[in-house]
Amino acid sequence: MKLVKSSAAMARLSAKWDRRVAFVPTMGALHAGHVSLITLARKKVGSTGLVVVSIFVNPLQFGPQEDLSRYPRPLADDLRQCRSAGVDFVFHPSAPDMHPSASSVVVDENALALGLCGAARPGHFRGVCTVVTKLFHLVRPDFALFGQKDYQQLAIIRRLARELNFPVAVVAGPTQRERDGLAMSSRNAYLTVEQRRAAGALRQTLLRGAALIRTGERSAARIETRLRKLFHALAPNARIDYLTVVDSINLQRRHRVGGRVVLLGAAYFGATRLIDNEVVTVPNS
Ligand code: PAF
Repeated sequence: MKLVKSSAAMARLSAKWDRRVAFVPTMGALHAGHVSLITLARKKVGSTGLVVVSIFVNPLQFGPQEDLSRYPRPLADDLRQCRSAGVDFVFHPSAPDMHPSASSVVVDENALALGLCGAARPGHFRGVCTVVTKLFHLVRPDFALFGQKDYQQLAIIRRLARELNFPVAVVAGPTQRERDGLAMSSRNAYLTVEQRRAAGALRQTLLRGAALIRTGERSAARIETRLRKLFHALAPNARIDYLTVVDSINLQRRHRVGGRVVLLGAAYFGATRLIDNEVVTVPNS
């Protein structure tokens, strides 16, 4: 495994790729969710292809009140996990290299990125779209793998790749979960014991929403009310940011659910904001 530390070195390497490349962009603090994306990346390109992982805590996607400085950066452990997962290249640039202080160009998605996490975290998806665009240019992957846990991000990246004509197939990796169903996330490490116990409520609530739809409920408002009540009962000290049901592609909310929809949830457990989702195909719609 080779460590690539500058964008210039990455660009030089990728200009000469003569094999299929699968790319897993990360912010480090790798867990089983990332490892499953790396495994999927290897499946996509086979033993003759290349698997590239980037580890870059992207300052552009953190708001002023967010956790950039305390975001975990266990580089040695991350590299060890990459090595044992069979990664070929780890791209680990510095922040000034990726975003020189004189930078003046950003990439904005202006439909899917406005609501949900985009409303709670202004500028977040601009930061994600800008860095992913740069990473795609530098790594030139054939496949790019993103976790389904960040459902809105995945939908935005799909659109970005299509509209900016990147010759890359965006591949979603299934959410990896703890035993109580909590979606794996680098942010779970911030939870106190009590918050960790309560955090399983997000998953349970979304699963209940899926069950309501499968048993015939079609009113988005009624589903959302039931979800809020259940979540409050399960985790009275947590604060809901949103619990909603929207179209799985355009993320629009309709009064009556139909087709393929996704239940999306975001909640604060103390200062830690967790997200999760569940996709449902509405029967007979
Ligand atoms: O999902 C993440 O970890 C980040 O948003 C990403 C895609 C690596 C961009 O910084």
